[in-house]
Amino acid sequence: MHFETLSVHAGNAVDPGTGAIRRPLVMANSYALPEDPSELSWSDFSAPLYTRNGGANQGWLEEKLALLETAGERGSVDAVALASGVAALHAVLFTFLRAGDHVVCSDVTYVATYRLLTELLPEKYGITATLVDSADPEAVRAAIRPETRLVHVETPANPTTRITDVAAVAAVAHEAGALLSVDATFATPILQRPLSLGADLVVHSLTKYVNGHGDAMGGVVIGDRALTDRIRADAQVNVGGVLSPFHSWLIMRGAVTLPLRMRQHCASALAVAEFLEADPRVAYVAYPGLASHPQHELAARTLTGGFGGMLAFAVRGDSDAQNRFVAALRLVTSAVSLGHDESLIVHVGGDDERARFWPEEFRRWGHLRFSVGLEDPRDLIADLAQALGVVG
Ligand SMILES: Cc1ncc(COP(=O)(O)O)c(C=O)c1O
Repeated sequence: MHFETLSVHAGNAVDPGTGAIRRPLVMANSYALPEDPSELSWSDFSAPLYTRNGGANQGWLEEKLALLETAGERGSVDAVALASGVAALHAVLFTFLRAGDHVVCSDVTYVATYRLLTELLPEKYGITATLVDSADPEAVRAAIRPETRLVHVETPANPTTRITDVAAVAAVAHEAGALLSVDATFATPILQRPLSLGADLVVHSLTKYVNGHGDAMGGVVIGDRALTDRIRADAQVNVGGVLSPFHSWLIMRGAVTLPLRMRQHCASALAVAEFLEADPRVAYVAYPGLASHPQHELAARTLTGGFGGMLAFAVRGDSDAQNRFVAALRLVTSAVSLGHDESLIVHVGGDDERARFWPEEFRRWGHLRFSVGLEDPRDLIADLAQALGVVG
């Protein structure tokens, strides 16, 4: 089945209780026990028991996401839905690492990944991490230690849009006996499926494209059931950052249109990136779909469904000029988050603590992270053009 078909049908079925052709919202936190409860394992999650162990809506969403991530060939792959993308990232680290272990991680990641691996886990649990340019598999190899248990990469990376060759890094991780997890939030299963490239675990913030409407938070980890069962036992049941039934229901509804939305996000982002790159008032544009992107060819080879909806750029000028540009935008909203229906922009200065890992132009000019939404790209370009007129 194709993605459009899977997105509509996967995880959905006629509700046997009511005959409704949509899965209902089941706002229960407890489920009827079998006649002989002594047979139950209280940390079991194979049948609904208590919503922290797994509920109906979470299960249907997990089924949909496991099928999308495997392009319908689910096999032994399972998904664990959690309360946010960060809860999903934490679940991977909490489940598979213990004191003394070492992680090799992309040096460009979402800020919470950076904070967990550079401060919180080292200080609290004695887990260490080496941050490397994961676009270079040899740099990953050089950072591996005997105690390395996990390689974690983010691709395309937030905010630089750097691309990591998942297959090459998977080979390096597995040679060292480590797991590879991939934060593929920017790509979604529509553009890239890291499990098919050798990754062991895929993480998505569902808050972003998968839900797509800016009205729910969630996260998911997807991988072989032998791994996801460990995440359920350790992080889901015993840490408890579960996704609520209502948010599962909202995200399930949002995911129905994911392939259609991604097609539009990709087409509009390319049009916007080309417009910006051609304007002399723009200092630089980072977008994997542009020939000027340092990994454009790798992106073309590995992001099979398109180059995504995220780009970063700056106008020529200081931090104040970036702020004036953002303030002049009428259609594009200045707000964090990404992957929503509406376009979102956020200004981050070149003095950010993580800027040492970013390309020189990000440090020099700062950057405007731009999540290109579902508005008509002609309207977006008109808005950007008038705002450039204000600062230029
Ligand atoms: C790549 C990436 N991963 C994870 C997250 C965290 O997701 P959440 O905000 O749902 O916790 C974000 C948030 O922006 C992100 O951009």
